[in-house]
Amino acid sequence: MKPLSEATFKQLRDFIHEKSGIFIADSKKYLIESRLAKRIEEKKLGSYEDYLYYLLYGNSSDELIKLFDAVTTNETFFFRESQQLDVFVNHLVPSLLSSKASKELSLWSAACSTGEEPYTLSMLLMEKGHSIKNKILASDISEGALESAKRGIYNSYSIRNVPSQYLKKYFKLNGQSYELSPIIKNTVKFMNINLVDEKKMKLVSGMDIIFCRNVLIYFDDKAKKKAVSLLYDSLKPGGYLIIGMSESLHNITRALKPLVINKVVVYQRA
Ligand SMILES: C[S@@+](CC[C@H](N)C(=O)[O-])C[C@H]1O[C@@H](n2cnc3c(N)ncnc32)[C@H](O)[C@@H]1O
Repeated sequence: MKPLSEATFKQLRDFIHEKSGIFIADSKKYLIESRLAKRIEEKKLGSYEDYLYYLLYGNSSDELIKLFDAVTTNETFFFRESQQLDVFVNHLVPSLLSSKASKELSLWSAACSTGEEPYTLSMLLMEKGHSIKNKILASDISEGALESAKRGIYNSYSIRNVPSQYLKKYFKLNGQSYELSPIIKNTVKFMNINLVDEKKMKLVSGMDIIFCRNVLIYFDDKAKKKAVSLLYDSLKPGGYLIIGMSESLHNITRALKPLVINKVVVYQRA
């Protein structure tokens, strides 16, 4: 197949950006070239130009799902960024519960990939003796990642940070795979939600804590601002947004106030 030309790359990049917020820098052209080559082969299209044409003018809503699977990076693992998890379970949860008449919190893992993040939150709450009546909402744009999340079967890479008492209690080793216990699986409900799709985002409201970690790094500032403003709307007053440890909302929002707890930054809606 003919290599991806500069002009077609730019058009594909703009299309992906418009639909998902993901911005692909010039230096990552090779990534798009290789990831989309598989789609073009599967669709039996002859070139990147044909594929672009199909996305723009074909009846391509199914292809959009495949495109999102192809362009997203789904890297994640259980107990990722444990300092934040500690602040979540030992500070935010007790503080929110003490100020509430009800003992139930609404939690959302807003780019959950293959499920390790929301399942980690669920295990932490269980260990602290919290009942999880309101299921934890977990969402992602990648249908492939969500399907895998619902299966709840993991490899040794995903579970490498799981403390041994959790591993014993909540996983069953089956050959080379670790199967998550239904006790945890049943506490999470999955949805396909695109962080820059206003209609979908407006379906979620009244959240106490939102985790949106390690996804905004793939967006440009315009898309970050849009997603963060929609996340803000989904929070209750006093609710918290947690982004990745290496991310910042500097110049992205003034509405969410940064708070530092045990060296961890969390953002609170006033
Ligand atoms: C690197 S993973 C992070 C997973 C998890 N939050 C963590 O920190 O381990 C990024 C996830 O963001 C998802 N994503 C990318 N763009 C998105 C969008 N516009 N809406 C929702 N999810 C998106 C990807 O599909 C991917 O699963």
